[in-house]
Amino acid sequence: MLKTKIISNAYKLIVKPILFRFDPETVHDLFSTVGEFLGSYKITRDFTSLLFEYKNPSLKRTIDGIDFSNPVGLSAGFDYDGHLAGIMKSVGYGFNTVGTVTAKEYEGNTKPRLARLPKSKSLLVNKGFKSQGVDKVLKRLDAMNLNNITLGLSVGSSNVPEVNTIQKAIDDYVYTFNKVKNKNYIKYLELNISCPNTEMKESFAASKNLELLLTAVDKLKITKPIYIKMANELAISEMEKLVELSLKHKCIRGFIFSNLVKDRNNKAFDKNEIKGVEKLKGNFSGKPTQKNSNDLISHMSKKFGNKTTIIGCGGIFNAKDAKEKLDNGAKLIQMITGMIYEGPQVIGEINRGIGE
Ligand SMILES: Cc1cc2nc3c(=O)[nH]c(=O)nc-3n(C[C@H](O)[C@H](O)[C@H](O)COP(=O)(O)O)c2cc1C
Repeated sequence: MLKTKIISNAYKLIVKPILFRFDPETVHDLFSTVGEFLGSYKITRDFTSLLFEYKNPSLKRTIDGIDFSNPVGLSAGFDYDGHLAGIMKSVGYGFNTVGTVTAKEYEGNTKPRLARLPKSKSLLVNKGFKSQGVDKVLKRLDAMNLNNITLGLSVGSSNVPEVNTIQKAIDDYVYTFNKVKNKNYIKYLELNISCPNTEMKESFAASKNLELLLTAVDKLKITKPIYIKMANELAISEMEKLVELSLKHKCIRGFIFSNLVKDRNNKAFDKNEIKGVEKLKGNFSGKPTQKNSNDLISHMSKKFGNKTTIIGCGGIFNAKDAKEKLDNGAKLIQMITGMIYEGPQVIGEINRGIGE
């Protein structure tokens, strides 16, 4: 407890004020480099774990045949290319997702594509599926020892001009799924149909397109659980239709509610802060995602109950936020923004709070 308090204060009073003076992407790149180094050696992993990881057998669970040391996961978007795959467990996560990974390499949308809105507890994101491409990412992951890690990989369709029709996007997803489906160290997959920052005009949130995609994925006979990463701002009735449709497909085991928000009139924004980024393209994480995410979890778990696994994601900053999602019916939760604003010790704090 005391150790966590000291780290929390050190992060908020010293580390964060320094880091927040620099461009967020530069800071993220620095974290990836340091994290990759720390994840490479047993001694540095053990040291990181000593500082951050909270272990409690009551937090363990087995879901869809996968063992989780705790229910708090790193969501897609922090570790695009798998540099951090070996260290996030030591930071305290019960599972961590690499990606979103695409078939083709894409450098990402033009900068600036990441901005902080601290008063709104949010980040503006406009990366648009920045990815080194599945082949390079797998080469990196193949070389790591990931045996004790509950690792997942998020699959998206390449955000490049030639992938410009639904059929080409489906072929693109299929390419990546085929590459990853037999990798033993990947325990679960995410099907990201909700990236709001790409140039594709048509969307897989349209029932007929999703049906085509899932029919193609069914044919791959993937045995790992696949969770669909859903949009945040779809009306509940629309979402219900997509969930119903998806559950008719053998390949789908559950849903992640949910991705970023687009609506700049979202009540969680500080008015001056959102005005300050009016010239920047992008969508938002953190607090503005929280209400819709909680409503979706609550509604869908009542409606679909045990038929499916629901993973709650969006606006978790503390144990209370995490408990709300779990109490609403999520079996697991995921986060990014809370870790950036509160510090990496927050994962342990949340787990301690859930475990009590
Ligand atoms: C910098 C950043 C990049 C993201 N990139 C992805 C992504 O590539 N794929 C994805 O499914 N979600 C992505 N997300 C969305 C997060 O996974 C998550 O759904 C969202 O941020 C809400 O969770 P949070 O409030 O805990 O951050 C990204 C989020 C952030 C902050």
